[in-house]
Amino acid sequence: MHYKKALSVFLSLSLMLALLVTPTTPAASRAPVRGKHGMVASVSEIASQIGVDIMKRGGNAVDAAVAVGLALAVVWPEAGNLGGGGFMMIRMNDGRAVAVDYREMAPAAAHRNVYLDAQGNYIKDSSVIGHKAAGVPGTVAGFALALEKYGTMKWADVCEPAWKLARDGFPVWYQLETSIKSASRNLALFPDSNRIYLRNGKPYEDGEIFQQPDLAATFERLVKNGPREFYEGETARLIAESMKKHANGWMTMDDLKNYQAKERVPLRTNYRGHEIITMPPPSSGGIALIEMLNILSRYDLKSMGFNSSRELHVKAEAMRRAFADRAEFLGDADFVKVPVAGLTAPKYADKIAATINLNRASTSQKIRHGKPSAYESPETTHFTVVDKDGNVASNTYTLNGSFGSFATVEGTGILLNNEMDDFAAKPGSPNMYGLIQSEKNAVAARKRPLSAMTPTIVLKDGKLWFACGSPGGPTIINTVLQTLINVIDHGMTIQEAVDAPRIHHQWMPDEIVYEVGGVVADVKDRLQLMGHRFTDKPRRAIGDCEAIMIEDRTGIRLGASDPRRGGKAIGY
Ligand code: DON
Repeated sequence: MHYKKALSVFLSLSLMLALLVTPTTPAASRAPVRGKHGMVASVSEIASQIGVDIMKRGGNAVDAAVAVGLALAVVWPEAGNLGGGGFMMIRMNDGRAVAVDYREMAPAAAHRNVYLDAQGNYIKDSSVIGHKAAGVPGTVAGFALALEKYGTMKWADVCEPAWKLARDGFPVWYQLETSIKSASRNLALFPDSNRIYLRNGKPYEDGEIFQQPDLAATFERLVKNGPREFYEGETARLIAESMKKHANGWMTMDDLKNYQAKERVPLRTNYRGHEIITMPPPSSGGIALIEMLNILSRYDLKSMGFNSSRELHVKAEAMRRAFADRAEFLGDADFVKVPVAGLTAPKYADKIAATINLNRASTSQKIRHGKPSAYESPETTHFTVVDKDGNVASNTYTLNGSFGSFATVEGTGILLNNEMDDFAAKPGSPNMYGLIQSEKNAVAARKRPLSAMTPTIVLKDGKLWFACGSPGGPTIINTVLQTLINVIDHGMTIQEAVDAPRIHHQWMPDEIVYEVGGVVADVKDRLQLMGHRFTDKPRRAIGDCEAIMIEDRTGIRLGASDPRRGGKAIGY
């Protein structure tokens, strides 16, 4: 009796101690960055600081997000952009939530077979390199729309920091030096890209000051004349002229003038009592994320254990199925019918989950594989901003490939995207991410290519809990999925959830992609015995999740930047 009492006192004391130390004691990863008022998590310390400065001057999360996005166009040129597009998921503290869609649109000259030769074969690199790979850029229009409807500051004020950065320059850091060097072969193909990023053969090194006078002139025009300048002014004229010179007028002044950013209604679901707000078409991300969460909610992932063979098995099986549906059903819902409600319905997940055998891997049927290239680099970028009032902006935008099409519009410092490759240039054949896609995502004039970008917001008891997103092509969706599961099912801190190793399965090719040290040998052996296939080598990194959480007890903003790409969360 005596012994039992002592034991129970001991147990309750240990429990109290555990409760006391858990929230502040980091385990295997760093503690998140803490800020009482506002927080920015992005891939660049300079850009994060610009966002914080905007909030300190009284700006809200959207003002700061626009300033961060414009600054990234200067300091992180492989993905930050004026010449690309993306999505900004916004939730205001009064509960309004909106997805600003500023995805690129195909020029009027685009059509289904534009990247195919007379025999119907894909013309190598035609949707990847050079002017004709570009869709009409949406970034400036999207940021202007977000700012006008949800921001509080003037366009010129949020634009100015980027102008100064381009004009005065900033010290190159190692990550930037490496990304420029790894794209150097293709950047060298275009005189302005060669001059600006490679200094005609003498690329910038860590610590050197990188000034971009052409880009500064573009920002100056944007500051002085407003965002329409990009679509109707001197910048538009220079883009159209460059298109005439290099690509038979592929993108015209009319295309630019007619570009439209759109507000879309976000998709919502409930996962284990938490509301998830995520990206609708033209992203596939939200639909696939919800389908996977619906499937996985049928399993007790917590008791299976993080990255146990049982948990990895059901995660991979859910991924396989959601990506098979992505390939078949998804495209720009302004153009084709996308069964959004069907794919995200819990009943549908019941049916899908019933096809998962807990002891055996399925095989991705309908083998239609081409030879996916091993192309992999850090192209897209995500950042998240939370302000002192609890408004949040979660933004993913991109040029698609690293440095997009590698072509810089002469005299503007603007790199053009190669987002046209996100269409199915030849439906049924893999694109540069090895993704197979159907006629629903075929090229058409003014259509938006299907995306995987998945900026996402999670609510707890109806209030903002955390928000995140990532680059990584198709791996984006699975990076967001695993971050959500790590927090919600495994009780990780936001930084642990971001740091934890990830896997990726995209149906075709039928294999699990994993990170170095992410799947231990015993677990891998066991999964292989169950019939799973793994890539020959692990990847160094999957994704780059930039997340912010609100701490339950205190309301403190917890910033978690992903260690994989050297970003930084800054709060105040
Ligand atoms: O929209 C998409 O899904 C792609 N263009 C994103 C590309 C990407 O994330 C590359 N980043 N690593």
